[in-house]
Amino acid sequence: MPLSERIISPLSDEEILSRIGRTEPLLESWYRDFGRELPWREKEPGKRTDPYHVWLSEIMLQQTRVETVIPYYQRFLSEVPDIPALSKADDALLYKLWEGLGYYSRVRGLKKGAQQVMEQFGGHLPESVPLLKTISGIGEYTAGAIGSIAFGLREPAVDGNLLRVSARWTAAEGDIAKMSVRKAFHDLLLTGMERMAMDPGDYNQAMMDLGAGICIPVTPRCERCPVRSCCLAFDRDQTALFPVKAPKKERRIEEKTVLLLTDGEKIYLRRRPENGLLAGLWEFPMLDGALGKEETEAALLRMGIRAANLSPLKKSVHRFTHIEWRMKGFVGLCREGAPEWSAVTREELEEKYTLPSALRVYRKAAETLFSEIQEEHIGIL
Ligand code: ADE
Repeated sequence: MPLSERIISPLSDEEILSRIGRTEPLLESWYRDFGRELPWREKEPGKRTDPYHVWLSEIMLQQTRVETVIPYYQRFLSEVPDIPALSKADDALLYKLWEGLGYYSRVRGLKKGAQQVMEQFGGHLPESVPLLKTISGIGEYTAGAIGSIAFGLREPAVDGNLLRVSARWTAAEGDIAKMSVRKAFHDLLLTGMERMAMDPGDYNQAMMDLGAGICIPVTPRCERCPVRSCCLAFDRDQTALFPVKAPKKERRIEEKTVLLLTDGEKIYLRRRPENGLLAGLWEFPMLDGALGKEETEAALLRMGIRAANLSPLKKSVHRFTHIEWRMKGFVGLCREGAPEWSAVTREELEEKYTLPSALRVYRKAAETLFSEIQEEHIGIL
């Protein structure tokens, strides 16, 4: 079946490829003039970014905005400068360097990948898209990005930006949430790139920048678009209709009661299980459900824990990809926590333990609590 039928475009494969061809010189000069200057990007012709730098930046950029990533990227590289260092890095250091970026499985995958690169590829990322895809944490998109940007391989890096731009150029009605439609876009862009002279890394990054700054969701800035003459959705004044994307499933809602319990000096933390959501990270102890003061005291008593002076904390909501946490909390005193909890000092909390950003509000409250303890404001014990 022709690819154009798989993406449900009114254009034929050859018409689409001819449009991709026409966009090449327009994108090339636009990227030279308006492509973003980013710390992991070499815009000078002939220069390439170190493959490890591309890998790190692409993993950080999954789910996180460019402006947020920049300081994290720089700090990470200064502490973990290369693949051998990453393969041996302490997990606690890696979590600290990732703290606030979220989705910690990314940094676990990165370290596992680095160990694999040391064992199987002599410490160097392979110059092959199929081999890159065998490395932990590197999927189709990241392999395309590393392959094209670091090694100049002709391979599209198909992310949400490239899909949105291509779906508008082709007025495609296929659902871009579907794997089969994404694969068809990949194959079309791959064929288009194979016919091009433009540097493949520059091409992918030009498309990413176009998608991030011009061909944005909902309100594209077509008046500034360098390739609108090749865009069928623009021709038809239908940019708002593309891309077609089935709505996501609703998130499951979980209510939690977060406990900031101090023995008068330290605060209690516990470690999350090794698998599942926020695997292996530390957190304040939590109870399931939005509990009142008496209910919280009673639930703790059932665990053999006596808490006193409970006072309420702010409510907070955190949205993960598939789950939403609706949290309330209490701060209070507890001389002896559960055996599996750890009592930690203020310094340890700051330097050693990584808490998920979902708990940002309660982490701030813990800082206030520590200040109060220091000033001996709490008349406890
Ligand atoms: N988003 C993901 N990868 C990117 C890159 N290399 N440049 C800009 N934005 C990106």
